[in-house]
Amino acid sequence: MQRFLRRRPELLMGTFVLVVALGAGLFRAADYVVAIGPEPTPATATGEADTHAWFDTGMGLWDAHCYSCHAEVPYVSELFVADGGRDYLIDLMLYGAQGEAEIFGAVEMLRHRPYGGSFDDDQMTALLNLMLVAWGNDEALPPDAEFYTPDEVGAARGRDVSPREVIEHRPW
Ligand code: HEC
Repeated sequence: MQRFLRRRPELLMGTFVLVVALGAGLFRAADYVVAIGPEPTPATATGEADTHAWFDTGMGLWDAHCYSCHAEVPYVSELFVADGGRDYLIDLMLYGAQGEAEIFGAVEMLRHRPYGGSFDDDQMTALLNLMLVAWGNDEALPPDAEFYTPDEVGAARGRDVSPREVIEHRPW
């Protein structure tokens, strides 16, 4: 007992070090979770979205190039069905965007880099279509909606459109 008492400061110190180490470990684990973020959730209403040929290509590109900034854009189909929205989304991707836009109900400065030089027509089509069906977006998609085609994307290239002009044509 005497030996134990004599060693109590060491024991206390040891416990303290252990608690600090555990705490630090937990904090690091928390950082890790935040950095990795939640899994992308291509939730679909019909459960058929991932049967499209372009789905895996689109999701692969999304994970590699877009997911770092936004895990999902859950209102793309609403933009798509709005007046001019179909073309707006192509231009946003090809030419980027700069200007004020209403996002999630609040007016914000939207600055988006262009991806026209990063992806070919097939890749761009896959990405655009993916956004129409992923994250529950297909719920806002009319059943007769026509998906984007590589020809449509190709035809929109090569125009002289500035990021500011793209925002001027945003549906809302
Ligand atoms: C550097 C960060 C960043 C990257 C990378 C990025 N985005 Fe975005 N994107 C944003 C921000 C910020 C918004 C505004 C909405 C928000 O805050 O979620 C946005 C909005 C959008 C919108 C909605 C535009 C609108 O008018 O509301 C689409 C569509 C979009 N991004 C597609 C993409 C795609 C596809 C990629 C990958 C090829 C991508 N983004 C990569 C930052 C980024």
